Amino acid sequence: MPRSEPIKAVRGVRDILPEERALWRVAERAAKHVAHRYGYRQIETPVIEHRELIERGVGEDADAASKELYRFEDRGGRHLALRPEATAGIVRAYFERGLNQGPQPKRLYLIGPMFRYDRPQKGRYRQFFQFDVEAIGAGSPALDAEVIEVARAWLFEVGLKELRLEINSIGDEKCRPAYLEELRTYYRPLKDKLHGDCQRRLEINPLRLLDCKVPQDQELKEGAPRITDHLCDECQAAWDLVRKLLDSAGIAYVHNPYLVRGLDYYTRTVFEFYPAAATGQQDALASGGRYDGLAEALGWPSKPGVGFAGGLDRVIDQMTSEGEEVIAEPAAEVLVLPDGDLAAEAAEVARIARQARAVAVDYEPRSLGKKMAAADKLGARWAILFDASEAQRRAARLRDMVSGEQAEVAWDELPDRLA
Ligand code: HAM
Repeated sequence: MPRSEPIKAVRGVRDILPEERALWRVAERAAKHVAHRYGYRQIETPVIEHRELIERGVGEDADAASKELYRFEDRGGRHLALRPEATAGIVRAYFERGLNQGPQPKRLYLIGPMFRYDRPQKGRYRQFFQFDVEAIGAGSPALDAEVIEVARAWLFEVGLKELRLEINSIGDEKCRPAYLEELRTYYRPLKDKLHGDCQRRLEINPLRLLDCKVPQDQELKEGAPRITDHLCDECQAAWDLVRKLLDSAGIAYVHNPYLVRGLDYYTRTVFEFYPAAATGQQDALASGGRYDGLAEALGWPSKPGVGFAGGLDRVIDQMTSEGEEVIAEPAAEVLVLPDGDLAAEAAEVARIARQARAVAVDYEPRSLGKKMAAADKLGARWAILFDASEAQRRAARLRDMVSGEQAEVAWDELPDRLA
């Protein structure tokens, strides 16, 4: 193969550079901080899972499991996938690793990369990062309100306070079938007016007609029956309680009767957080809901669960567009600037100074003036300068890059002087 073209990154994925990592660190630290404050503990699950886990968990018709799934076969002929989301994997681990034993619910969180073969655009990446939070093993609607509060606390902590929270209930296996039949009955005479995907969904997954974004289908939605008018007693009680708890926590929300979510495992509460100024088209910053049927769909005993995932990429994009800046810490607080061909000596000086500070060496064969200018740009607090004759005496000049003050110091005194 001719080696003419330089190799670039795969479409839809991004590098996160050191200066950008500063903002990411803020968002990750806030996630961990908030999760711990609410009693959630960190879990890691593999990036690869059996394809079936995703297909049975997320739902074969869901975009994340059909069009968008990164699937592959390994050398052993196993059908695997890169996880498009974390919930199915965490529920698997919950049973497989015995977290279903002992006091419930288990409160868990995960921060890591997810993969979806989505059409790349701002806010939509093929590798993206989620802060995922799950409370598994208890069915109280108070947990629905709790995870909503966790999501909001995280967004608040990273400085995103102008938010719109949308909620809905999509019922459960008791009341939903009858509602879906009503929905089909409503849409069947209108089928020809729907666009292709929705025509297909009408019989297999009519709930998805409600969150269709295609303009021609919008008007039809308005007359559609609303699921919150068709809840069974248990779902109604849960729906009432979740809203009451949000009210008493002072969490503002709007009821969006068309909010159904793109993954098939949800029951009852579903929710999404958007920037307040967002148009309807902008993607959610964080979203989730209850999934009481997921464990069984994966072949495990029935267990209730509720959670959400926040998109770190989108949250960081939003922080940036709201003007949040974090000054990236300099890579090193101290730079060693040897004047001449003194690599071994410079390495030794750095080793000594490193007992007290983060230290890097400028080994480049350029003039001291250029090295000083570079040190300034790098934001180092101190520079250690020496030439061959100073090296012989094991001495150097320690320069304060802020005040410009400079004094001779013996190498071995550097840790004390820098402490
Ligand atoms: P989701 O709505 O598919 O839900 O994704 C959650 C969040 O991940 C979204 O609100 C968004 O911020 C981010 N996200 C999704 N796709 C992309 C993408 N292509 N690029 C960048 N960010 C993206 C779930 O994944 C569920 N597992 C959430 C959940 C947890 N439900 C219950 N527990």
